[in-house]
Amino acid sequence: MRTFFIAGNWKMNTLPGEAAQLVDAIVSSKSVQEAPSSVIVAMFPPHLSLTSAIEAAGKFRVSIGGQNCHHKEHGAYTGEISASVLAHIGCSHVIVGHSERRRDHGETNELIGQKATRAITSGLIPIICVGETLAEHEAGRTKEVVGAQLSEILNAAGKEIVAGSIIAYEPVWAIGTGRAATPQQAQDVHQFIRHWLDEHQTPNLPILYGGSVTPENASALFACEDIDGALVGGASLKHESFCAIIDAAAKASTQ
Ligand code: 13P
Repeated sequence: MRTFFIAGNWKMNTLPGEAAQLVDAIVSSKSVQEAPSSVIVAMFPPHLSLTSAIEAAGKFRVSIGGQNCHHKEHGAYTGEISASVLAHIGCSHVIVGHSERRRDHGETNELIGQKATRAITSGLIPIICVGETLAEHEAGRTKEVVGAQLSEILNAAGKEIVAGSIIAYEPVWAIGTGRAATPQQAQDVHQFIRHWLDEHQTPNLPILYGGSVTPENASALFACEDIDGALVGGASLKHESFCAIIDAAAKASTQ
C-alpha cells in the first residue's frame, strides 16, 4: 500500500469560525472517516485561525500546521511567528519556502534551510517547497533550478534536517493559474528530486506535488510512481473538492 499525504494550504483565507467549520466538514466526511491509514490529511489555516482549527479537529486523525515560521527561536522580531508557538498550540507541521513567501518576502534558500532547522528543533515537520518560475520552465531550466534550491537548503540545514522533512514540488507557473503540470511533467521532476535526495543520503522522503491540483487531475497525478501526495491551494477551501482529492489518494493507495 502506498502512503499519500494530502495537505490543504489555505493561504490568507478563513476567519477563525470559518476555519472551524471547514475542518469540521472535512473531518466528519466519509472521505476522512473511511480513509485508510495510508492516507494522511493535513490542513494549513492562517495563523490566527489555527487554534479554532485545532479545536475543531479534536480527536480526529488529521494534522494541522502553520504556513510559515521564523528561523530564530524567539526575540525582537516584530510580527513574526515562532515554530515553538506553533508546536505549543498543537501544530505538527509547518510549510517553509512557499513561492509566495520567496516572491513577497524575499526568502532565500539559505533562510528556508534555517527555518526547516528551527521547525525540526521545535518538534515540527517542515514541508520544504521548491519549484521553478515560468521563465525558468520555458528556458528548460527546471531541474537545474530545483537542484540548486535543494543544494542550498541542504547546505544551510544539513542532512539530518532534510531527512526529517517533506518536500513539495510547486512549479510557480502552476500555482493559482489553473494550469497544473501534466502528470508526465510532474513525475519527471519528482523522479529527479527522488534521485537527488538518494544521492545526498536523504532518501525516502515524501515528495508532494502542488499547483492547481483539483479533483479532476488528482487521480492521474497520484498514479505517478514518485508523487506521494499533494499540497492543494484553491481546491482545499471547499470541503467537497478537498474530500474528492482525499478520495483519489485513498483509491491510488490501494491500487
Ligand atoms: P493552487 O492549488 O491554488 O494552485 O495553490 C497551490 C499552492 O500554492 C499550494 O501551496
